[in-house]
Amino acid sequence: MSLFQVQGLVKRFGGLLATDHVDLTVAHGEVHALIGPNGAGKTTLVHQISGLLAPDAGRVLLDGDDITALPMHRRVAKGLSRCFQVTRIFPAQTVRDNLLLAVQAHSGSSFRFLQPRSQAHGLYEAADRLAERVGLQGRMDGIAGALPHGAQRTLDVALALACAPKLLLLDEPMAGMGPEESQQMVQLIDSLRRDMAVLLIEHDMEAVFRLADRISVLVYGRVLTAGTPHEIRSNAEVQAVYLGTETLEATP
Ligand SMILES: Nc1ncnc2c1ncn2[C@@H]1O[C@H](COP(=O)(O)OP(=O)(O)O)[C@@H](O)[C@H]1O
Ligand SMILES: [Mg+2]
Repeated sequence: MSLFQVQGLVKRFGGLLATDHVDLTVAHGEVHALIGPNGAGKTTLVHQISGLLAPDAGRVLLDGDDITALPMHRRVAKGLSRCFQVTRIFPAQTVRDNLLLAVQAHSGSSFRFLQPRSQAHGLYEAADRLAERVGLQGRMDGIAGALPHGAQRTLDVALALACAPKLLLLDEPMAGMGPEESQQMVQLIDSLRRDMAVLLIEHDMEAVFRLADRISVLVYGRVLTAGTPHEIRSNAEVQAVYLGTETLEATP
């Protein structure tokens, strides 16, 4: 059974079918990329998966459980975590405090303030482990909002990892990054598949074709096709959608 399934998902904005009976499956440990031109409905689909938007029809299943009607925090508790197209860190706090707050929230602690290390050693250790996992261990005392863009996006991923997700949703994690930062993000995402599945929305086709086990192509709210990178690259309909762009010529 697939870890994650979207079945017949529909979202209308007035007369516009932003999500038109979308089906999608993600297996355990799979990196599944969702691509498509601007306005295809990628973000609208992610909002329905995360619980920010209610679909008009269809179902979302995680580990066989119907989560379509669950509020966001219940989905997170079930193992669905997301990073945002716009980063949602606390910019005035240090990297360490951002990580501690995320770890503390996931631990179910009733504290509304950060405890000192002497009283919450486990939380500090968990924050340290997260920082090491994503390569931010050298930046723990930096103010989050003053970090370079790539490091802020990386911190956003680390915050999502604090929830120990089964499925991580990444909405354009490489947006606004230079080549070196993108490269680091590709490596980070690649390292995650040992522990979780990833649904990756990304415009950077080089990254998509390097990372994805399977790709779904969304056009005008519909899944045009889904398949392996090789199948997608050689699909004539997909090439027609991207015609005039060099995007599908990037090789892994
Ligand atoms: N809240 C909204 N109200 C009305 N139309 C919307 C709303 N959000 C998105 N849309 C429209 O839905 C379509 C899909 O948008 P979006 O999901 O942002 O696409 P993508 O992320 O693939 O670029 C677009 O035509 C967009 O203008
Ligand atoms: Mg979008």
